[in-house]
Amino acid sequence: MSLLATQDLTIRFGGHVAVNGVTCAFQPGTLTAIVGPNGAGKTTYFNLISGQLKASAGTVTLDGRDLSGLSASERTRAGLGRAFQLTNLFPRLTVLENVRLAVQAARGGAHRRGFNLWSIWSDHEGLTLRAHEILEAVAMAAKQEEVVANLPHGDQRKLEVALLMALQPEVFMFDEPTAGMNAAEAPVILDLIRNLKADKSKTILLVEHKMDVVRELADRIIVLHNGTLVADGDPATVIASPIVQEAYLGLAPQDASAQHETPPHPGLPPRGGRSEQP
Ligand SMILES: Nc1ncnc2c1ncn2[C@@H]1O[C@H](COP(=O)(O)OP(=O)(O)OP(=O)(O)O)[C@@H](O)[C@H]1O
Ligand SMILES: [Mg+2]
Repeated sequence: MSLLATQDLTIRFGGHVAVNGVTCAFQPGTLTAIVGPNGAGKTTYFNLISGQLKASAGTVTLDGRDLSGLSASERTRAGLGRAFQLTNLFPRLTVLENVRLAVQAARGGAHRRGFNLWSIWSDHEGLTLRAHEILEAVAMAAKQEEVVANLPHGDQRKLEVALLMALQPEVFMFDEPTAGMNAAEAPVILDLIRNLKADKSKTILLVEHKMDVVRELADRIIVLHNGTLVADGDPATVIASPIVQEAYLGLAPQDASAQHETPPHPGLPPRGGRSEQP
C-alpha cells in the first residue's frame, strides 16, 4: 500500500512554468483521472513523478520517502510504474522475449538460486508462464512471436501496458493509454485498467481526454490548467464544475489534429483531444 504525494511540484522551461506548485496525494485503491487542455502540464507532471524530468522545486514522495533525488529507474524500483516508451524495448526481440525480460527484471535477484541447470530451466519456465498470462490479458498472445519493431501502433501501445503489468508497480501511471488505438483495441486496455482497479492496494493515475472513459473509471478527478491544479474532487462534482463544463461540454468537437496548433479556447481542454507521448 503506497501513498504517492507531490508537494509544490514545479518545473520551469526557460520562462515557462509548465507545472506550477502542484500539491496532491494519491490514495491506494483509487483511480485518479488527470484532465486538462493540451499543454496543461499533465504529461510533464507524470514525467516529474516518474523522474524523466527533474523538478525545479518541490518533492515527490512515496509512503513518506522522498524520491526527488532518485533517477527514473530508481523510482521504478521504488514502485512507480510508468508505461514504457517503446524506445526502452528491444525492438529486434519478440513480444514474448520483451515481456519475459520485464518479468525477470521485476523479480530482480529473488530468482537467483545459484547456478545450476535445473534452477535456470525452472526460472525460464516460470518467467515464460507469467509472460504468457500478461500477453493473454492484453489480447496479444497470438502475436507473441512477432518482432517488436514490426508491430502496428496499436499493438505497440498494448505492449507498453503489458510491460507495465510485468513490473507489478505499486503506482500505475497511464498517459492516454488508448490514444491512437482502434475501436477493437481500446476496450482491451480499458478492461485491463478496470481489473487493476479491483486490486485495492494499487494506486492508479490516468491522464485521459475522453470524458466518457473518465466518468466511468475515475474515483476522483483533478484538473490541471496552465500547470496549476485548479479542481480536485469526486467525478460528479468536478464534471459539473464551470471549468470542466465550459471546457468539455460547451465547445463544438474539433478536429483532433488541429488541437495542438489552435487551442479551442485559451487554456481550456479540447473535447476528445489527444496528444503525443513525451
Ligand atoms: N522538455 C520541454 N521543454 C520545453 N517545454 C516543454 C517541455 N516539455 C513540455 N513542455 C511544455 O510544457 C507545457 C506542458 O506540456 P505537456 O506535454 O505536459 O502538456 P499536456 O497536458 O500533457 O498536453 P497534451 O494534452 O497535449 O498531452 C507545454 O507548454 C509544453 O510545450
Ligand atoms: Mg500529454
